[in-house]
Amino acid sequence: VLVTLLVAGVAAAAGGAAFVASGVYDIAASRPHTPPVQALLKRVQRESVAFHSRNVVVPPLDDARLVQRGLELYREHCVVCHGAPGDARARAGVGLNPNPPPLNDAMRRWHPREIYWITSNGLKMAGMPAFGLGKTSPDLWAMTAFVARMQTLTPAEYRQLIDASDAEQRGEPVPRNVPWVERRDLGWEALEARGDAGRGRRLIGELGCGACHDVPGVSGATGRVAPPLEGWANRQFIAGQRFNAPTELVRWLKSPGSIREGTAMPDVGATDEEAWDMARYLYTLR
Ligand code: HEC
Ligand code: HEC
Repeated sequence: VLVTLLVAGVAAAAGGAAFVASGVYDIAASRPHTPPVQALLKRVQRESVAFHSRNVVVPPLDDARLVQRGLELYREHCVVCHGAPGDARARAGVGLNPNPPPLNDAMRRWHPREIYWITSNGLKMAGMPAFGLGKTSPDLWAMTAFVARMQTLTPAEYRQLIDASDAEQRGEPVPRNVPWVERRDLGWEALEARGDAGRGRRLIGELGCGACHDVPGVSGATGRVAPPLEGWANRQFIAGQRFNAPTELVRWLKSPGSIREGTAMPDVGATDEEAWDMARYLYTLR
């Protein structure tokens, strides 16, 4: 048994060495990892970041000054690879493998302490640079605060922040009511309390949404005129205008024209209650 194991071990090592020496493994960034390698790397990354960031204490991030500083740093260091709401990343970011993801939903994957840790330390085997080397901790928290704010930032609001920041740098008066900090109630609690997914699904069928939209789980809803609503819960924006959250979706369903003038989405005359029910159902689509 021992001899057999020994021979098998040597054969496996030799096979491995021959595989490496042959050069057939495809290291090209332009082609994806095989699914098992991809899954393994992701898992290692998740667990490692969670473990190493476990003792990081998060300061309050809802601070206009901190977010503003974060915006400046983010534009300087991060937009090239990660882009921003309504702002595409540069060409260099496009060809990286793994591809730098847009960060406007990063908090669905990471806790703020993990975002801080990633920004500070970077990610091996992923092309994410470590920014902790030349930066002080307040700057790193500023970038984290901006990434956190970005989760609900629309392209229009992002422009507002940039204009305000630029005005200040030029020494001009800073516009007031700049949405540095998110204070809206996004309605996640109301969705649980007011919406009924079963009723919502029926209503979506009855109100004829399916003539235009493909809606999973609603029979006959296979329209091709409008965006499919599959995976709605993971969508970032509503009609490209509003951050995708219950209060905004309810407004859209009751009166699309109030969010986007001249939109091709008709006003179906939904009541408040019906809109909450439909919203509840749409957020079950992942
Ligand atoms: C050279 C390109 C590059 C730059 C510049 C860059 N990143 Fe990254 N970033 C990456 C890549 C690549 C990944 C990893 C993607 C993966 O593993 O799937 C990543 C991942 C991340 C993640 C985890 C994202 C997720 O959802 O999994 C965060 C958070 C992050 N970067 C923050 C930042 C911040 C903040 C800055 C600016 C200070 C920045 N990055 C600058 C390339 C970059
Ligand atoms: C006559 C066709 C039509 C009907 C009927 C219709 N929609 Fe729409 N809907 C659209 C169009 C077109 C858009 C894209 C609008 C835009 O981007 O301005 C849209 C957008 C949306 C969006 C945002 C999609 C996105 O990708 O951002 C949601 C959510 C939505 N509709 C839900 C519904 C629901 C629920 C109903 C039924 C109550 C419905 N729609 C009925 C045409 C329709």
